Amino acid sequence: MVADTVAYLAEIRDTPAWAPMPDSVKQALTQPLPRLGVGAERAYAEFVEHVLPYTNGNRHPRFFGWVQGNGTVLGMMADMLAAAMNPHLAGFNHAPALVEHQVIAWLAELFDMPGASGVLVTGGTMASTLGLTVARTAAQRAAGDDTRHYDTRHYGVQAWPDREPPRPLVFYGSTETHGWAGKAAELLGLGNRAFRKIAVDAEYRIRLADLREQITADRRAGLQPFCVVGTAGTVNTGATDDLDALADLCHAERLWFHVDGAFGALAYLSPKLRPALRGLSRADSLGFDLHKWGSLPFECACLLVRDPDAHHAAFAYDTSHAAYLAKLTRGVTAGGFPFADRGIELTRGFKALKVWMSLKADGVDKLARLIEQNVEQTRYLKQRVEQTPELELLASAPLNIVCFRYRRPGASEEALNALNSEILLRLQEQGIAVPSSTVLDGRFAIRVANVNHRTRREDIDAIVDGVLKVAASA
Ligand SMILES: Cc1ncc(COP(=O)(O)O)c(C=O)c1O
Repeated sequence: MVADTVAYLAEIRDTPAWAPMPDSVKQALTQPLPRLGVGAERAYAEFVEHVLPYTNGNRHPRFFGWVQGNGTVLGMMADMLAAAMNPHLAGFNHAPALVEHQVIAWLAELFDMPGASGVLVTGGTMASTLGLTVARTAAQRAAGDDTRHYDTRHYGVQAWPDREPPRPLVFYGSTETHGWAGKAAELLGLGNRAFRKIAVDAEYRIRLADLREQITADRRAGLQPFCVVGTAGTVNTGATDDLDALADLCHAERLWFHVDGAFGALAYLSPKLRPALRGLSRADSLGFDLHKWGSLPFECACLLVRDPDAHHAAFAYDTSHAAYLAKLTRGVTAGGFPFADRGIELTRGFKALKVWMSLKADGVDKLARLIEQNVEQTRYLKQRVEQTPELELLASAPLNIVCFRYRRPGASEEALNALNSEILLRLQEQGIAVPSSTVLDGRFAIRVANVNHRTRREDIDAIVDGVLKVAASA
């Protein structure tokens, strides 16, 4: 299996970027429950035939959809070793826990947040949702016994007959904040209304004056602001909010500052790209993925929280009600369950191994160089779009995302939207490349997000040439 898989990845460049599934695959994957096993060899043969060739394509050098990393061979091998060891990472007194502690300390150092508490989680959605939860708990702790504030650990967000209803909690981000924030607002029981979406400027960055006004208005209306979410690398266009100004504002307003750096935070590793992220290290909490621009196999992300006590206070088990999780001073559980106390999962796998092995084997400088390479390729694509009269750039492409469209003289906006949607689908269906799409100011955009360590300049040319070729017949 290992030899086949490595050989398969070595030839990936010569395969289509995506292949639609034939009916035979759909049939093979809707079979009755196997009462009798067929044996590992046949099961593997079926995997090779029906599953392996038909992924969404994100391991391919011409995959640029959404923000999905490629994975690496070393990451794959590390996942295999982690599964073979199969340790339980609630914490425990074992080397895998030390590996996770080590990885978190390295990541905190990389983002200039030394001493921060951290936890590895499945993705950016989870990391930032946990960050927002810590923010909420921190606001409640700061309020002490003031009953006009929520105490979600004890009362939740429900109205209790023996308690005055506390002031509604609200938090802020821009209209470009990723969809995790709405989901988190619902999950935390705050409701979408509690997520105040602030307008953006022409560069898709949060408008600070509007943010200030909204906070003041909300306070006047009796609401309780608790957090501002800044984004390092928005999902639509790769824009980064003015993080330094947001940190100042949060300091002045006594609000928690969370940064969603799902992919963009990793640009901080490059001294060349870091200035655009000034202020990132002033975050109270930072959520970012390692399975996007960190190139590790899914799933792997991290939450860092500057104040370890605040992190612990949001999630620690109340062991007076969970004696089975009590910490002993010696033996397997010495040191307790620190990771289970930093998030909502108790059973956790050994994600840290792929981070540890990759950082050790490749070093941070190589990762930073690959990130710079993607940014340079993106600039090249932007240039090619600007130099091609049939193409139009739809946003300024400050980092690793280019949004553009094909133009046809005299065509209405509606017709252009339909045409570009068709071009995108044909690019995917013909296996030429896999960009995804978005809509900017009502205009359908072909969106190329580059976190691809396998991409070469010729792959960037292939997108532009592919769009022009496909458009000629669309
Ligand atoms: C800016 C941003 N935040 C959050 C997320 C969600 O991350 P994940 O898909 O790892 O949950 C994404 C995903 O693309 C993103 O681009």
